[in-house]
Amino acid sequence: GAAELGPYRHYMQKEIFEQPTAIANTLEAITGISPELFGDGAYRVFKDVDKVLILACGTSYYSGSTAKYWLESIARIPTSVEIASEYRYRDSVPDPKTLVVTISQSGETADTIAALKHARAQGMPHTLTICNVATSAMVRECELAYITRAGAEIGVASTKAFTTQLVGLFLLTLALAQTRGQLSEADEAQHLKDLRHLPVAVQAVLALEPQVIAWSEEFARKENALFLGRGLHYPIALEGALKLKEISYIHAEAYPAGELKHGPLALVTAEMPVVTVAPNDALLEKLKSNMQEVRARGGQLYVFADGDTAIESEPGLHVIRMPEHYGALSPILHVVPLQLLAYHTACARGTDVDKPRNLAKSVTVE
Ligand code: G6P
Repeated sequence: GAAELGPYRHYMQKEIFEQPTAIANTLEAITGISPELFGDGAYRVFKDVDKVLILACGTSYYSGSTAKYWLESIARIPTSVEIASEYRYRDSVPDPKTLVVTISQSGETADTIAALKHARAQGMPHTLTICNVATSAMVRECELAYITRAGAEIGVASTKAFTTQLVGLFLLTLALAQTRGQLSEADEAQHLKDLRHLPVAVQAVLALEPQVIAWSEEFARKENALFLGRGLHYPIALEGALKLKEISYIHAEAYPAGELKHGPLALVTAEMPVVTVAPNDALLEKLKSNMQEVRARGGQLYVFADGDTAIESEPGLHVIRMPEHYGALSPILHVVPLQLLAYHTACARGTDVDKPRNLAKSVTVE
């Protein structure tokens, strides 16, 4: 009810602003990195695996897609990420030395549970879930678990569940890295310091809301939008596009920035805003040269850049600068303004933000 919403217009906005607390709660019990954060016997399991297979749906699939970059670059463990509804029916090659990781806010998504059971039936006994509901079917079904502490999420479009999943997946990356001899004590201390800084860092990003609102008024008049990112931020571009389409009904798609010239460039007009998650200057320079090609057609570039970048707004190029430069945890910060952009664009269009048409919070039937 209205009392629970406090100063917020919708649950989604409230949940976006709860992220500093949700992340702090998710990290609360962490005093150091160890496999046992994921349950008794986790060390034995982590020692026995040499591959990770992540299974999830929707926004949870995008947190998994982000984690692939961490798992490969930090823990040096080959990782694949599959959409649960595809994996469960695909004729794949099972490997018993795989850690099967499911990601789910609800822990009740039918396709993700079926994909987990399919993996196990194929001969992959090691299962772990990153889940927001301790009493869910998913937690019961998996050998190991990390429970995110986002609290109840009511808005259909997932926000605080996503960022807390990323925190859980980063902890998993560090625990696997440690087991595999890839994490020095100095690295561990630095990563923990960066994790503990997250609530403050997210709070500072939330303060960009007025700048994002100004952009959302432009977006609300469009019917299409393109999101670009590279590396770790490509899944964040995908998540930004998903948020926008789910609640504002604007057609949005995401591309890895380097693919722009292999197709989507043909779509760019004054009517097609291009949102770019671009933490560093090298990528920005490449993008600016891509954008020169579309300037003549009025293409508008909306860039979220880090605090240490030199890029300035100019005609056709709009920049919101993030307060800091974030390193490996950058995706957790960069998704926040994209959540706000989708939220305020949807508000400007007057949609039912917390209950978008045709969508359900939890898809418990196939
Ligand atoms: C639905 C929700 C999404 C969610 C997805 C997966 O589509 O609307 O917000 O990401 O299900 O749900 P899960 O509970 O498994 O994370």
